[in-house]
Amino acid sequence: MASVLPLWLKYERRGAHITSLYPGMAHGDSMAKWSAKNPYESTVTVNHILNGESSKKETRHFVFDLGNSGLTYKAGDALGIIPVTSSELVDDVIVALGADADEIVETHVGAITLLDALSNHYEIHQANRKFVASIGNKFEVIGGPSEIRIVKRIRTSVDSGQATMHWSWSGDDDDYPDGFSPIGSNVDPAFEQWNSLSSDDKAMSDYLWARDYIDVLNDFGHLGFSGQDFVDQIDRLKPRLYSIASSPDFELGTVHLTIAIVRYEGQGRTKTGLTTGYLADRVPEGTSNVRVFMSPTRSFILPGDGSKDIIMVGPGTGIAPFRAFLQQRKLDGATGRNWLFFGDWTEEGEFLYRDEIGAFVEDGTIDKLDLAWSREGPEKVYVQHLMAGHAAEIWDWIDNGGYFYVCGDKNRMARDVHSTLINICIEQGGLSEEDAKQFVEQTMMREEKRYLRDVY
Ligand SMILES: Cc1cc2nc3c(=O)[nH]c(=O)nc-3n(C[C@H](O)[C@H](O)[C@H](O)COP(=O)(O)OP(=O)(O)OC[C@H]3O[C@@H](n4cnc5c(N)ncnc54)[C@H](O)[C@@H]3O)c2cc1C
Ligand SMILES: NC(=O)c1ccc[n+]([C@@H]2O[C@H](COP(=O)([O-])OP(=O)(O)OC[C@H]3O[C@@H](n4cnc5c(N)ncnc54)[C@H](OP(=O)(O)O)[C@@H]3O)[C@@H](O)[C@H]2O)c1
Repeated sequence: MASVLPLWLKYERRGAHITSLYPGMAHGDSMAKWSAKNPYESTVTVNHILNGESSKKETRHFVFDLGNSGLTYKAGDALGIIPVTSSELVDDVIVALGADADEIVETHVGAITLLDALSNHYEIHQANRKFVASIGNKFEVIGGPSEIRIVKRIRTSVDSGQATMHWSWSGDDDDYPDGFSPIGSNVDPAFEQWNSLSSDDKAMSDYLWARDYIDVLNDFGHLGFSGQDFVDQIDRLKPRLYSIASSPDFELGTVHLTIAIVRYEGQGRTKTGLTTGYLADRVPEGTSNVRVFMSPTRSFILPGDGSKDIIMVGPGTGIAPFRAFLQQRKLDGATGRNWLFFGDWTEEGEFLYRDEIGAFVEDGTIDKLDLAWSREGPEKVYVQHLMAGHAAEIWDWIDNGGYFYVCGDKNRMARDVHSTLINICIEQGGLSEEDAKQFVEQTMMREEKRYLRDVY
C-alpha cells in the first residue's frame, strides 16, 4: 500500500520507528522548530578527504556547526541534508527542454519558477521510469500492434521557427503542414526506441542506469516538453540521511559526518550523486547555508548500562556511528569492553580515522581491533571473515549479554555479517540452525534489542 506520510516526515523516520513531528520536542522549542520542512542553515567548517593519496576512493569528513540553532543529538542519530542541484545541470536541462528559466510551474510547493523548481525541489540528476513511460503520450500509434504503420506525433512546436502549432500526422505522405516535410521513414525512430523500452522492463532499467535528463532529452526532447510537462513527471527532491560520526559531548556544538562521494561515468559525462556531489564540489569550508535537520534514532543506541560489552562491525562509511560511540563511551567512562571490526580496500588508502582509532587503542578505549583489507592480497578479506576467525570469543561476548552493532552496506555486507553471526551461534553455542536464527533474529534483535543495525 502506498505510504500516506508526507514526504518530509518520511525523512525523519529511522528504521521501523517514526519520530514525532518535531523529533527534538523534548529538547525545547529551539530544537522543535527545525525539521526537514524547516531546515537549519548550518555552516560547514571542515570538508576534507580522509583517504590516502594513493586511494581511488573519495571519502570525506565534514563538520557542521550547529551555531545557536539549539539542535541537539545523541550518538547513533543521523543528520538529514537537503541538497541543491548544480546550476550547470539545471541550465543544461532548461536548454534541452527549450524552456524558459523564468517560466512559472505549479509544484508541490506552489507556483515557482522552473529554475527554482529544478534547482531545489526536483531530482534531475537521474532520470526516472515515470518520465520515460510518460513519453508514450507524445505518440499515437495507428494500427494494431502487429502492423504499426504510422506514428502520429503530437508536437507543440515545429523547428521552422513558426509560432507554437499543434499538428497530428495521419501518416500519409502528403499530410504535412505547409513548409514542413517528412524526413526518412514515416515511423519516428524515437517511437521505436521508446516502444522497446516500455515493453521490456530490463531494457528500461538498463536505459535508466547512469542517465540523467540531458541524456533522455537528447533522445526524446524533439517531441516537445513544456516545463510543466517535465515537473509533473519527475521525482521530487528527497533529503539524504547520514549517520552522525561524533558524540555531541565530545565535539561540542558540531555534527561530524563520514561520506563516500558517488562519482561515475554515464553517456560520456562524469556524474555525481546529488547530495555527495553537492557537498564535495559546491560546499567549500565556510559555506554557511547548508540545510540540515536531525533524524533521531530510538533503536541504534548505546546500552544504557555502560558495563555491557559492545561489538561494532562497520566497514567503509559504516565506521561513522562507531566513532561517535567510542567518543561517547570514553567520555562516559563506560567500563564495558569495545571491540571494533573495520575494513575497506587498503590500509594505505582507506584506513579512515587511522590516527584516532590508534589513539583509542593506545588509551584503552578500544579493547579489540580487527581490520579487514579487501584489496591488499589475492583473496578478499572482509569483516565477516575476521569474525569467523574469532568465533569463540564473539560467542563468549554475546552469550554474556554483549551488544552487537552493524553499520554500512545493507545489501552485501550486512547480509553476510548476519549469516556469519548465526553460524557462530551454531558452531560455538551448539544451537541448531533454527534455534540460532531464533536467538539472533528474535531474542537478540527484537526482545533484548542488543543486535542493532544502521544499514543503507
Ligand atoms: C540511515 C542512513 C544512514 C546513512 N549514512 C551514511 C553515511 O554515514 N555515509 C555515507 O556516505 N552514506 C550514508 N548513507 C547513504 C546516503 O544517505 C546517500 O544515499 C548516499 O550518500 C548517496 O546520496 P547521493 O544523493 O549523493 O546519491 P544519489 O543521487 O542518491 O545517487 C545514488 C545513486 O546513484 C547511482 N549510482 C551510484 N553509482 C553508480 C554508478 N557507478 N553508475 C551508475 N549509477 C550509479 C545509483 O542509482 C545510486 O542509487 C546513509 C543512508 C541512510 C538511509
Ligand atoms: N546500498 C547501497 O547502495 C550502498 C551502501 C553502502 C555504500 N554504497 C556505495 O558504495 C560506495 C563506497 O561506500 P563505502 O565507502 O561505505 O564502502 P563499501 O562499498 O561499503 O565498502 C567497504 C568495504 O566493504 C567491503 N565489502 C564489499 N562487499 C562486502 C561483503 N559482502 N561483506 C563484507 N564486506 C564487503 C568492500 O570490499 P570490496 O569493495 O573490495 O569488495 C570494502 O572493503 C559509495 O559510493 C556508496 O554510496 C552503496
